[in-house]
Amino acid sequence: MAETADKFWCYQKSVQSPDHEIDIFDQAFDDAYNRKPVSLREDFCGTFAVCCEWVKRGKKRTAIGIDFCPETLQWGRENNLSQLKDSQAQQIQLLEQDVRVHDEPTVDVLTAQNFSFWIFKTRREVIEYFRVAYSNLNDQGIMVMDMMGGGACYDETKTDKRTIKKGKRGFQYRWQQARFNPATGDASFYIHFKFADGSKMKRAFEYHWRFWTIPEVREMLAEAGFSESHIYWELEDEHGEDSGEWQRNEDPPSNPVWLCYIVGIK
Ligand SMILES: C[S@@+](CC[C@H](N)C(=O)[O-])C[C@H]1O[C@@H](n2cnc3c(N)ncnc32)[C@H](O)[C@@H]1O
Repeated sequence: MAETADKFWCYQKSVQSPDHEIDIFDQAFDDAYNRKPVSLREDFCGTFAVCCEWVKRGKKRTAIGIDFCPETLQWGRENNLSQLKDSQAQQIQLLEQDVRVHDEPTVDVLTAQNFSFWIFKTRREVIEYFRVAYSNLNDQGIMVMDMMGGGACYDETKTDKRTIKKGKRGFQYRWQQARFNPATGDASFYIHFKFADGSKMKRAFEYHWRFWTIPEVREMLAEAGFSESHIYWELEDEHGEDSGEWQRNEDPPSNPVWLCYIVGIK
């Protein structure tokens, strides 16, 4: 099963929830400007699942997806773009290029999801990227990035295992925290998939990142020109479980593992 499996399909099923991400973009833009956003730029878009979901939310919505990997973009054209109505597909523009390029038109929401900007390992590189991102926004615009953290993220023995699909055609997703270097903040992560017949796709994806923290990223956003930044944290329900509701929070709990969004306001 591992030999015939499609790693991009497994990735999308395990890692991405574009629907939820767009809810956060809409909420954060509305919190900033009291209206709904129309245009999106998805930096590091990969198979641009977020662009595809964005244009489904309205005829006026436009999306630009940017990624420098031709294979990944092509998978998205064949498997995601092809699922849209023609009119929706025309609302999307794809650019095979580095994200650190100023493009026109500028947009309301610029997003960099799944920790993608952690590929930039120095302050100089991140600030350079944030400056270009700032220039790619409309005068009223926001930049949204997801972040992870918590003490357990530095544990090199930890692999998070989740069953994504049950049954004979099912598979499991494994997120391995392979290395964290306390001296540099460099971290390596692998995604593996395990299938119902016991076969494995090892290191289907691997990431070698700088493990940035929230205060560092906020400082770099400010240096790049963003006027404000906000942290969106998930509220807990009455049983202490994730509620699906997100709110600005300046004093979140120090959970062993957490995910949040940082929103930079132009
Ligand atoms: C971690 S994946 C994220 C994919 C998708 N955004 C998601 O949320 O799942 C990072 C993607 O960024 C692309 N990438 C990395 N560095 C880039 C750069 N400097 N410019 C454009 N694309 C880049 C890679 O080709 C890859 O598709």
